[in-house]
Amino acid sequence: NYYAILMAGGVGSRFWPVSTQEYPKQFHDMLGTGDTLIQKTFNRLSELIPKENIFILTNERYNDLVFQQLPDVTKRQVVLEPAMRNTAPCILYASLKIQKENPDAVMIVAPSDHWIEDENAFTQNVKQTFEFCEQNDALMTLGIQPTFPNTGYGYIEFDKSSNQDIKPVNQFREKPDYETAKSFIAQGNFLWNAGIFMWSAKSVIKAFKSNQPELYSLFEAGIEAYNTDLEDGFIQENYAKAENISVDYAIMEKSENVFVLPATFDWNDLGTWGSLYDKLDKDSDNNAVVNAKTLTEDATGNMIRSKKDKIVVVDGLKDYIIVDKDEVLLIFPKAKEQDIKKVLQNVKEKFGET
Ligand code: GDD
Ligand code: MG
Repeated sequence: NYYAILMAGGVGSRFWPVSTQEYPKQFHDMLGTGDTLIQKTFNRLSELIPKENIFILTNERYNDLVFQQLPDVTKRQVVLEPAMRNTAPCILYASLKIQKENPDAVMIVAPSDHWIEDENAFTQNVKQTFEFCEQNDALMTLGIQPTFPNTGYGYIEFDKSSNQDIKPVNQFREKPDYETAKSFIAQGNFLWNAGIFMWSAKSVIKAFKSNQPELYSLFEAGIEAYNTDLEDGFIQENYAKAENISVDYAIMEKSENVFVLPATFDWNDLGTWGSLYDKLDKDSDNNAVVNAKTLTEDATGNMIRSKKDKIVVVDGLKDYIIVDKDEVLLIFPKAKEQDIKKVLQNVKEKFGET
């Protein structure tokens, strides 16, 4: 009864110029290991979940990339979204589809672009939460020990008095402002939301039904069409009508039956070049290098990526992102990496789509 929903519809614009709208980061080998992020995620999930029960939700423009990179996947497992509507619609849609196929389904919902160090610990953690979800009407999260007041994450306040591994959650707060995040961390019983969820199809659909009745009715109306030849037509006609909202705001902040298992694996959501740099092995001058053959002099702390085996010579640069990709060369201070999104906008205005 184990299933997975793999969310692969994001764009990853802070990883430009490698990640682009046509070819986003989950379809790239960001770590230089030979596998793309979505391939790594698929393999990680298939340790616990039968391959044929892993559903991929993505934008229709990534259809070819999905089938090229995941040759074991069949058309039945791929949902192509005609419009970007964030994670809530995608999760409810897939959950209804899975429930129709198997009313006792228990599932993990996972992003396709994260870095997880200890895959065994990950599998163990998920297994433990699956067993809990089989017994309880629970919306399960995995919690990460926070290290600074990051305002890009969700925060999970767990019940301090619980001595179980899996703890009841008092409050789920998506992307608080900086001061709030700071006060949360000071309190000691707050974790970051890893963005990975586990629940039974029954529980998650119930949560949508009571907290997002409009979205629920929109997709529930198509239930006859799901898993039949009529499904494509239903999606084309209705998907874009869904509200653009993330699962965190749509149900997690509103529900009373949220639980958390503090994760026992090291996690990183690979949001920026700097977070990737942190996770890669470094050379003796602390440069992280993917694909390039480098000759460096007085160059430290740089994130360097090029085409395979391209020779890159760097002298006199410290803490820079140096990324060479086809028609674009980016040389940008790591400290300003959040601005890459903005820079990309400016580039598009000046030169068109890259
Ligand atoms: N299929 C599909 N369709 N996938 C999508 C869509 C969509 O319209 N939008 C986003 N995704 C995918 C992204 O590719 C990513 O893998 C995942 O869903 C999460 O979306 P993000 O946009 O990266 O979310 P976030 O980083 O702002 O916040 C979430 O993740 C944080 C941890 O990384 C939240 O769950 C936070 O609470 C959490 O802390
Ligand atoms: Mg993210």
